[in-house]
Amino acid sequence: MDDTKLNTILDKHHRDPAELLAILMDIQAVENYLPKDDMKQVAKELKIPFSKVYSMATFFATFSLEPRGKHICTVCMGTACHVRGAARLVDQVQRDFEVEAGGTTDDMFLTLETVNCVGACALGPLMIVDGEYHGNMDAGKLDRVLRKLKKQDAKE
Ligand code: FES
Repeated sequence: MDDTKLNTILDKHHRDPAELLAILMDIQAVENYLPKDDMKQVAKELKIPFSKVYSMATFFATFSLEPRGKHICTVCMGTACHVRGAARLVDQVQRDFEVEAGGTTDDMFLTLETVNCVGACALGPLMIVDGEYHGNMDAGKLDRVLRKLKKQDAKE
């Protein structure tokens, strides 16, 4: 992240170490992950040890230390979703986008992740795409959702 963007985030949070979590969330919202250089810069600017930044970044599952794609596709693999076919959704994304669960496509278009139950079991099988919940997913719906993303990106 360039210095200007990072400074804007730090200023928004008054360079307050008590706002470290919010600062990291803002960085990830921009970058889709937490670059190590940004974490080092945050530690320096907040005058706190890098280990404190790193331990917070690794404690919360919401943070990724690895580069992620422009779009994040998360399939719930909790029991309720699993028995309703979540594994088939994962297979479909893996096959159509040539990406492994936990991985990112070579063109950085999409990251495929799995989680265990997000507490919306009645909607299963459930998929979250860029933070938007899609319930009762099937192969056709999945295809439409991901095709829409590709179309949006082509227009940008
Ligand atoms: S098992 Fe998927 S939301 Fe609970």
